[in-house]
Amino acid sequence: MTVHFIGAGPGAPDLITLRGRDLIAASPVCLYAGSLVPEALLDYCPPGARIINTAPLSLDEIIAEIETAYAAGQDVARLHSGDLSVWSAMGEQLRRLRALGIPYDVTPGVPSFAAAAAALGTELTLPGVVQSVVLTRTSGRATSMPPAENLAAFAATGATLAIHLSIHVLDRVVAELTPHYGSDCPVAIVWRASWPDERIVRATLETLGGALANELASELERTALILVGRSLGATDFETSRLYAADYDRRFRPLGTTPRFPETT
Ligand SMILES: C[S@@+](CC[C@H](N)C(=O)[O-])C[C@H]1O[C@@H](n2cnc3c(N)ncnc32)[C@H](O)[C@@H]1O
Repeated sequence: MTVHFIGAGPGAPDLITLRGRDLIAASPVCLYAGSLVPEALLDYCPPGARIINTAPLSLDEIIAEIETAYAAGQDVARLHSGDLSVWSAMGEQLRRLRALGIPYDVTPGVPSFAAAAAALGTELTLPGVVQSVVLTRTSGRATSMPPAENLAAFAATGATLAIHLSIHVLDRVVAELTPHYGSDCPVAIVWRASWPDERIVRATLETLGGALANELASELERTALILVGRSLGATDFETSRLYAADYDRRFRPLGTTPRFPETT
């Protein structure tokens, strides 16, 4: 028996990995985080599967479900939105499973920042412009930020920021970032990337307020990512050396003397 933690992807049901889909199909129990995991993925569950939405459950109740499956020798598919490596609450579940001696494995998923970048048709790292992406958030009711991890500190690097869980404090985000990035810095909001009701607003830090002025407050609070940085919409960036005709590399060697000899 194994608990399979599976990244369910950002929303579109076909943005789960084949491995994740097959593990769902092979598991007689499925626990899914109902607030963000698309219900269409539950169609992959085998007939008669026990399917539980964990959104209203406490951690103890979730672990109790897993212990029941363990006692019955039944595999569990445990679905969380996006990828499991960020803001999935997987860590606290794994800690409990380790203490109980219950086996588990982890299958990655498409994270929401990647789905948002895809929706924008944008590469978040561009040669000569920006080479880092910071996945971050602001403090919420359930989680406060470590003091050194503040927007100003990340902004000082000039990296592209992918700010999660923060659409409700958008005004504060814009105010904190503007001194660092400049008021003309591009910003994009992507609501529900890859869902049928996906929506995008592009602006600058200065014009964002106007672009959103007529939105209902409830619209603004839907699941969204805030992306900020000079990579968004940039056209004036260097061409990478990777595909340059005169760039000697292992897979496209120049000349007759190999610089990258085969190793044995
Ligand atoms: C609890 S976190 C989960 C993050 C997830 N593990 C991931 O890999 O992206 C939820 C936050 O992720 C972002 N998010 C998740 N799915 C999204 C989507 N489809 N479109 C835009 N933002 C999304 C939002 O900022 C939301 O508040």
